Amino acid sequence: MTLWQGRFSSTPADELMAFTESLSFDIRLWRQDIFGSKAHVLGLKESKILTPLESEILLGALDQVEREMEEGNFVSQGDEDIHSAIERRVTEIAGDTGAKLHTGRSRNDQVATDLRLFVKGALKGLARDVIALERVLLDLAESAGDTYLPGYTHTQRAQPILVAHHMLAHGWAFMRDLERIADAYKRVDVSPLGAGALGGSTLPLKPDFVASKLEFAGRFRNSLDAVSDRDFVAETLFVLATIGIHLSRIGEEIVLWSTEEFSFVRLDDAYSTGSSMLPNKKNPDIAELSRGKVGRLIGNLTGMLATLKGLPLSYNRDLQEDKEPLFDSLDTVTLALKATAGMLATANFDYATMKAAADSEALVAIDLAEFLVMKGIPFRKAHGIVGGIIRDSVERRVPISELVAAHPQLGIEALEIVEPGGAIRRRVTPGGSGIEAVKDQLVEFTERLNQESKSFEDLG
Ligand code: ARG
Repeated sequence: MTLWQGRFSSTPADELMAFTESLSFDIRLWRQDIFGSKAHVLGLKESKILTPLESEILLGALDQVEREMEEGNFVSQGDEDIHSAIERRVTEIAGDTGAKLHTGRSRNDQVATDLRLFVKGALKGLARDVIALERVLLDLAESAGDTYLPGYTHTQRAQPILVAHHMLAHGWAFMRDLERIADAYKRVDVSPLGAGALGGSTLPLKPDFVASKLEFAGRFRNSLDAVSDRDFVAETLFVLATIGIHLSRIGEEIVLWSTEEFSFVRLDDAYSTGSSMLPNKKNPDIAELSRGKVGRLIGNLTGMLATLKGLPLSYNRDLQEDKEPLFDSLDTVTLALKATAGMLATANFDYATMKAAADSEALVAIDLAEFLVMKGIPFRKAHGIVGGIIRDSVERRVPISELVAAHPQLGIEALEIVEPGGAIRRRVTPGGSGIEAVKDQLVEFTERLNQESKSFEDLG
């Protein structure tokens, strides 16, 4: 039976129900729907639309539905969505009093309320998983000490950088994700309950009261906007896609680093997969899927934006298309964050191979040029001098150090620049990859991470 049967002379066609139902996926909102309905009942009592006894009966029926859901005893009767399903069951349990549950409410403000409650919880869970991954990156940075590897641009070796600096570079990207989560959270934290179908109600409802019962920071200002706004879903999908992109960049590096050609890392067996045919293979599937799944995350975001584009006010059934991409992206990113954290925490980084790759003399070319700059030579000229040395070394296969020692403007004095590890010791700029700067960065990063953890804990 549908919620609208009074107006209709026939029952809905099977194809209509099959095409339009959402219970198969919005069942996931049952906790939020019951929580929202309880607040709505309390609001109706506060407005004296329900007597205290009626409110008791409805709350009792909602408790019973909650238990049935929890125990897996809830039986669907071809209900259209989670809202219809719960209201139907409440009415079965509480009879005519049950039929008062939907007073002053529409599924339009109800679904917006449920989804906002869901997204608030989801963002908090997401923040916890991001923070856990950041702690893994921080541990890796701390335990790497002053070991270094080649830093790359264009996937070509460029300069030696500290392993800690590299790990924290990924860490800062996730720090921005935490900022985005906190910022999105503020806009989600608005109750739409009391907006009705679109224009409020003739009944003396109390939207502020129900908003506070639902622990929202406040209530809607415009009932039309309250039922038609899904910006918060699009924003959450953007946050999720961005986290996915950050994970994919780590994934891509792990794929490269775990190749025999790089050999910078060996993944733990528990976080690797094998080949069904080739016994020698050990594959970085978590890293590859972190890369691969982002296509879907971006698709979910652009799909949602396309759904919203050009929709007239206020609620349109198109908006039902908000849930599947949201659930999918949330589940994908949650699993990817945990899998990446486990993969990195158990990985075996080969510092000796990294160091050997970074000790290639050509990687201090810029340091040699800056040595000349300190002697008063204009940078462009210094660049040319060192470039000539590199070319000479490549063409004649002579070690760079030999050419440096023999060069009139460089000479023996410049030889220590070419020594292993020199580049890391000499780097002095704040935020750069020098030893002191990275020590400071570790302190800053730890403080920021603790602050972020604290502010998410404060949200409850
Ligand atoms: N299942 C719907 C959704 O997810 C609930 C709201 C339906 N409202 C309506 N007036 N048909 O959006």
